[in-house]
Amino acid sequence: MTTGNEFILFHKDYPVISVTLNEGYKINKVLKVHNESRVPTGLDIKGKLSHSELDDWLYDRAISDKRKDIDIILESNNVKSKRELIIKNNGLGLCDCYWIKKANDARLWKDVNYFENTFNEKGNNIYLGIYESKSKKQNIKFTPNNISSGNVPKMWIRKEDEIYLVKASEDSSRQEPYNEYIVSKYLDTIDVKHVEYNMVWINKRPCSICKNMLNSGEEILSAFYVSKLLKKDKKDSYLEHYIKCCKILGLKDTIRKELNNMILIDYITANTDRHWSNFAVIRNAETLKTKCLAPIFDNGAALFLKIPTREIKDANYKLLCQSFRRTQKENIKLVTDYSLLKHKKIESLLDIINDVYKSNDDIEDGRKNIIIKYIQQRMHTAVKRKKL
Ligand SMILES: Nc1ncnc2c1ncn2[C@@H]1O[C@H](COP(=O)(O)OP(=O)(O)OP(=O)(O)O)[C@@H](O)[C@H]1O
Ligand SMILES: [Mg+2]
Repeated sequence: MTTGNEFILFHKDYPVISVTLNEGYKINKVLKVHNESRVPTGLDIKGKLSHSELDDWLYDRAISDKRKDIDIILESNNVKSKRELIIKNNGLGLCDCYWIKKANDARLWKDVNYFENTFNEKGNNIYLGIYESKSKKQNIKFTPNNISSGNVPKMWIRKEDEIYLVKASEDSSRQEPYNEYIVSKYLDTIDVKHVEYNMVWINKRPCSICKNMLNSGEEILSAFYVSKLLKKDKKDSYLEHYIKCCKILGLKDTIRKELNNMILIDYITANTDRHWSNFAVIRNAETLKTKCLAPIFDNGAALFLKIPTREIKDANYKLLCQSFRRTQKENIKLVTDYSLLKHKKIESLLDIINDVYKSNDDIEDGRKNIIIKYIQQRMHTAVKRKKL
């Protein structure tokens, strides 16, 4: 093996793990762990860090294969595979402070990170699925848009000193950006900590826009990796297990109420997409001290997204869930603190849906009315549970 294949995973300027990559950019050997405390959260170092686990972690942070237009993105970056894309972009994103570089690369974090340095935004509309059909291919070099997970077309932009995430829709329904905006307005009204989403139109397509939720020097640990900190005790629910893992990171029992609120909100808003990368913890990347649970984000898949209008009635009774239990009906049974439902504006969601959907042509009146009807029903069911 030549040193040309030797790479080091860095956390800011701390060398963390030396590895070798094969020709397909897959990690095939862990050579050395330099700094145990900075090994990505949830990777097992006691049971000896496995190269395949590390490989999964590295490529999980990156642009999803399920993203629409992935072929155009690869072509525009002049690479043959997603793995090549990640390594050529040094794994640099805007959600954490990890990056990977060749062992002999002398660049420092301050020179390369996108939190402090500008990034090239030219041609980046392809990340939103927007391009002229004649000239699909762009010439793109180095962008955090290559290290951004999730399936919805999205891109980071910088306006003055702020960094924003713009998200379009995964399919032609165009409902996600409206949903992000509606749920964000609702959470604002009922005083629940959340990422604030607004709407913008790009090339006549509705998109949501939000600020990067991280302050300078912070990073996100997804619930998926946090939950790996402990082996789950069979008698614990997945909620209890997650709370135990968060406590290992130094968070207090008060997070229980925040997680109860998240379950209630997902129930009421019919959000079926709260998988374990859609909730998280925020920590300081220098001190490694955990700050808090991440504010609620990614509510695009609420309000019966992807369910045809005529199927909403039936789907409503058996709505799926990806967080702590398989169905929303079962998930809400984990709630022990229903105080959120006492908020005097808890029913404001119905007016917000009406107002936001009314002002656009993307959601027809028939669909809007059915959505409101069944969301109202969900709200009443939740309130009834509170009284049990
Ligand atoms: N405002 C933000 N600030 C910083 N990081 C963010 C922000 N919003 C999202 N992220 C990060 O980017 C990832 C992808 O974003 P998001 O979940 O909104 O996309 P998505 O495509 O809707 O995801 P999914 O596949 O779950 O539908 C999140 O898991 C999170 O780590
Ligand atoms: Mg997501």
